[in-house]
Amino acid sequence: MGKLITVATLSDLPPGACLHVDVSGLALAIFNVGGTIHAIGGTCTHRGGPLGKGELEGTVVTCPWHGAQFEVTTGQVVGPPAGQSVPTYTVVVEGEAIQVDVS
Ligand code: FES
Repeated sequence: MGKLITVATLSDLPPGACLHVDVSGLALAIFNVGGTIHAIGGTCTHRGGPLGKGELEGTVVTCPWHGAQFEVTTGQVVGPPAGQSVPTYTVVVEGEAIQVDVS
């Protein structure tokens, strides 16, 4: 396991919620899909919209800027206008703390 950073607590992120977090300049988007936490790169590959401020439906987030869609479990683009996927990050939940491996 690499470098785990606590980015939020579970009470910040109820099921169905999204969160935009900045870890020393690295934008992350964190999602709670039915109790499972997922983290992906938070910067939309279209024009840089904040994916953590988008709308989560099931496992798909819609970018708040122009509506590109990403699968939050894989980072894959599933709807235009974005063309490239975003990275995924390993999440560890320890008690209330949501930790992301940013190494
Ligand atoms: S910046 Fe995300 S769809 Fe344009």
